[in-house]
Amino acid sequence: MPSDADLRPWALVTGSARRLGASMAIDLAKRGWNLWIHFRNSEQEAQALASRIEALGRRARTVRADLSVSGGVESLVAAVALLPPALVVHSASMWTEDTFDTAGAESWERSHRLHVWSALVLARSLAQWSLGASTEGHLVTVVDARSRDRDPRHFSYAFAKRELALLTRYLAVELAPGVRVNGLAPGPILKAEGVSSVAWNKVGREATPLGRTGKPGDLIRALRYLVDNRFVTGQILAIDGGRHLLGDLFGSI
Ligand SMILES: NC(=O)c1ccc[n+]([C@@H]2O[C@H](COP(=O)([O-])OP(=O)(O)OC[C@H]3O[C@@H](n4cnc5c(N)ncnc54)[C@H](OP(=O)(O)O)[C@@H]3O)[C@@H](O)[C@H]2O)c1
Repeated sequence: MPSDADLRPWALVTGSARRLGASMAIDLAKRGWNLWIHFRNSEQEAQALASRIEALGRRARTVRADLSVSGGVESLVAAVALLPPALVVHSASMWTEDTFDTAGAESWERSHRLHVWSALVLARSLAQWSLGASTEGHLVTVVDARSRDRDPRHFSYAFAKRELALLTRYLAVELAPGVRVNGLAPGPILKAEGVSSVAWNKVGREATPLGRTGKPGDLIRALRYLVDNRFVTGQILAIDGGRHLLGDLFGSI
């Protein structure tokens, strides 16, 4: 006789051992999902999160994959196909520093494999997994408020996130009616390692019309909305204190 947890649908959150990915994963677990926790380096954190999720009465599995290398996302989808997710949140990301002058072929390719190619392969897999499944498929990409703008200090990253935003809208058309595809575009929510608190507060004050940084809960509430509202596809929600409204101004920040 299957238990309640066995009957619940599975979600995969890429890059979910730590930080915003972990916050989204734990909230999904609280809302009834079993979780695939994907990580690259943070194995201990992934296992600790899996234990927290199991303590909530859900199932959790961890899976390692480097999504920036050839075959990385393919190995991830092969692993999770054992318990295919109906919801995939593609949050894994590398905030690599490079510029127009310094971006090299390797960093360009790694960023595109991680952010863009991985999203495409995950979308194709969701389309297959959702055939005949009882829970509707849904891909949520995590882009960046800056995907509507330029970021000269993270050139490869910004370009790949911009392409991911475009891909999100393409995929919404390609995958309808079986799978919904939406995006989250966070602004400054969680300080990157190595950024000083002074610089972080300055970003909040000066780089958002609302004059402050956000909180993980702001992103979580947006994800809940996308998951719950089954008439929404092809949307990219900015959770950024209005930062996206300010356009090219941000190129200099
Ligand atoms: N933090 C913010 O305020 C903010 C602002 C704008 C946009 N975003 C977007 O929101 C999402 C979550 O943000 P975050 O700050 O929590 O992200 P993050 O800490 O920069 O990265 C999340 C995870 O991505 C995984 N990752 C990195 N390179 C990988 C690779 N090559 N293959 C597989 N996984 C890899 C890492 O896993 P391991 O630790 O296991 O190696 C990392 O923990 C990201 O997509 C980010 O671009 C965040």
